[in-house]
Amino acid sequence: MIKFFDLYKQDKKLHQNIFKNLAKLFKKGDFILGNEVDKFERNFSKFCKSKYAIGCANGTDALTIALKSLNLKENSEVLIPAMTYCSTAFSVINANLKPILIDTNFMSPTISLNNLKKKINRKTKVIMPVHLYGSVVDIKKIKKIVNKRKIYIIDDCAQAHGATDNNRKTVGSIADISTFSLYPGKNLGAYGDAGIITTNSKKFYLNIRKIRNLGSEKKFIHETIGMNSRLDTLQAVILNHKLKKLKKLNKQRRNIAREYDKKISNTKINKLDYSKNSVYHQYVIIVKERKKFCNYLNKNKIQYGFHYPFAIHQLKSLKNLFKGQKYPNSEKIAKYGVSIPIDPNLTNSQVTYIINKINKF
Ligand SMILES: Cc1ncc(COP(=O)(O)O)c(C=O)c1O
Repeated sequence: MIKFFDLYKQDKKLHQNIFKNLAKLFKKGDFILGNEVDKFERNFSKFCKSKYAIGCANGTDALTIALKSLNLKENSEVLIPAMTYCSTAFSVINANLKPILIDTNFMSPTISLNNLKKKINRKTKVIMPVHLYGSVVDIKKIKKIVNKRKIYIIDDCAQAHGATDNNRKTVGSIADISTFSLYPGKNLGAYGDAGIITTNSKKFYLNIRKIRNLGSEKKFIHETIGMNSRLDTLQAVILNHKLKKLKKLNKQRRNIAREYDKKISNTKINKLDYSKNSVYHQYVIIVKERKKFCNYLNKNKIQYGFHYPFAIHQLKSLKNLFKGQKYPNSEKIAKYGVSIPIDPNLTNSQVTYIINKINKF
């Protein structure tokens, strides 16, 4: 069986050192924020080349906190892609703002900038692109589109830790605020829920730090109505070890993607157009005969996934909100997209096996 993602195999060499540091932490009892969280925040901001990083409980909260930190008027409009994980839309609604959907580019994981331009109006206060599957949206171009208008850019980097744009700038240092999920299956994942937010603005940094800690910097002084969304200290210990391996793992993902790009030649399979320096959180192909293809993968013992089987306007919880709206490029990914294994620890022979089987479908 070729597993979709083998986290144990990926991390097992790190376990001994992680256990040692966890034992130290248990002895010290430094369980809420503390040194390990500070250290991870420093390490992560250095990794992204951003001035500040603030750990939080998960990637959904990271988005919600980032939006709340802007202090916008209720129902201000936030532009988000129609193809993304539910959290991107839910965070907007939970921050009392209004999500407006934009279709992806044709056969691409990310937002269409032409469509984006058309949907900007006086009520638009935030643009929230998603670097879906690790493919980087051109934030510099969005800044140009925004021009002098007071519209903030928050990029959802949940799937793009370590990716760079066309100018070799690292995701997490380009937009006004950037948010990351550190869910176990992500390119950088904890052993439970975790998230982090980066920014170059001191003002946003100070707001965000307060919001994630019940509105407080000093014990019992609650200056704003915040959330309890601190990054768990045990997770920070694990993440400090795992961050050291991220660059290498991303490189391995890129190498596998390059093989797939070059060698998958079956005309029944269509590939998506990824950005040049993507970190391939997922490698998604478009297959018209999806059901048949999935049965074939099952028979050949290759695990697969769907990311995501519903576009945002097709989710049961959001159907009414976006009634009558159509986003054909996003719907196509939802209907025909199949994520094939891109586990950085796949062996060469496993990659060759996957390619051969796909070509014989
Ligand atoms: C694009 C995107 N945004 C947000 C999230 C939410 O992150 P979390 O699951 O850590 O809350 C995820 C991850 O699942 C994601 O893939």
